[in-house]
Amino acid sequence: MRAALYSRTGPAADVLSIVDRDRPEPGAGEVRVRVAWSGVNPSDTKSRAGSRSPIMPFPEVIPHSDGAGIVDAVGEGVDGLRRGDRVWLWNAAWGRPFGTAAEWIVVPARQAVLLPDNVALDVGACLGIPALTACHAVSMDGGVAGRRVLVAGGAGSVGHYAVQMARLCGAREIFATVSSEEKAALAKSAGADHVLNYRSEDLAQRLLELTGGQGVDRIIEVDIAANAKADFEMLAANGEIVAYGSGRPDVIVPFVPGILKNIRLSFFIVYHLGDADRVRAIGQLTQWLRADLLSHRIAARFELDAIADAHEQVESGRAIGNVVVSPWAHATRPS
Ligand SMILES: NC(=O)c1ccc[n+]([C@@H]2O[C@H](COP(=O)([O-])OP(=O)(O)OC[C@H]3O[C@@H](n4cnc5c(N)ncnc54)[C@H](OP(=O)(O)O)[C@@H]3O)[C@@H](O)[C@H]2O)c1
Repeated sequence: MRAALYSRTGPAADVLSIVDRDRPEPGAGEVRVRVAWSGVNPSDTKSRAGSRSPIMPFPEVIPHSDGAGIVDAVGEGVDGLRRGDRVWLWNAAWGRPFGTAAEWIVVPARQAVLLPDNVALDVGACLGIPALTACHAVSMDGGVAGRRVLVAGGAGSVGHYAVQMARLCGAREIFATVSSEEKAALAKSAGADHVLNYRSEDLAQRLLELTGGQGVDRIIEVDIAANAKADFEMLAANGEIVAYGSGRPDVIVPFVPGILKNIRLSFFIVYHLGDADRVRAIGQLTQWLRADLLSHRIAARFELDAIADAHEQVESGRAIGNVVVSPWAHATRPS
């Protein structure tokens, strides 16, 4: 089978190559999926670039944790999945050497989730990281029903889902930050009541005006290092910051507003969701998908041969939406 692979970390164009490998066979409890689309997330590009660690976790890595396709072989003892099922995948390249940037992948059956028939496979390749992260950030710690929520980066891959999900979960008022008119329109169409430009406005001042000085109850934060100071100003008493991203490794938080307002700051990584949280998030997401309640945004589709371009597009920050790669030409791609 054709696969994209790297055996050292570095710039995409230098380290990614297309190789031929044996098609994997599923063992007990596993399924093999013919991958239609493979999702590229910032986490995949950071791992490949070596920005988390220059040391390779395995001698060879086929990148990408997200993907979707068709089950075409089932190992012994697998219940609930059959050949021909359309599925989306989670954690396919987390703690595993071979991810979804290949014609086939074998995963433990629980990491393949049935994709409702009304959802396209390219959308399925964007659920494992962006949609599950947004779903957990919105629904953790009692959720956001009746509460004011600020989604930082409300037009990002995670942020766009988080705005929609906050609306679906009954948030009282939703605020989103963006950096351009185009992103403002996207966050608005996702359901934000107020959109603030974090580059040109004094965020805390404007948000406090909009909330009559009360502030928001939860901030879903894409860049805690850049925004911590403003976040502590914008939170209401007993408010919380759910940080899933940071532009820098170290975060400085202001102690006085933190303690006087009883602010909670929590971090999570979607790869490490506990079983109960993951089951809940997948169940909720499946319901919304079946009911067609989410809008999805694919910014760019690439052939596997152009995987380095796909990585560069994600790294550039220019993509508004998800970037996906297909290992199959159009005529042979599973649908
Ligand atoms: N913890 C987890 O499990 C988890 C899961 C998914 C993603 N992440 C991390 O979260 C980050 C975003 O991922 P993504 O896939 O959503 O990326 P993305 O699609 O590129 O979206 C990021 C968004 O954040 C905006 N942004 C950047 N800096 C900002 C700032 N200081 N304040 C407000 N908005 C800002 C960007 O727009 P502008 O630059 O135009 O403002 C963009 O719209 C990445 O660092 C990723 O590694 C973590």
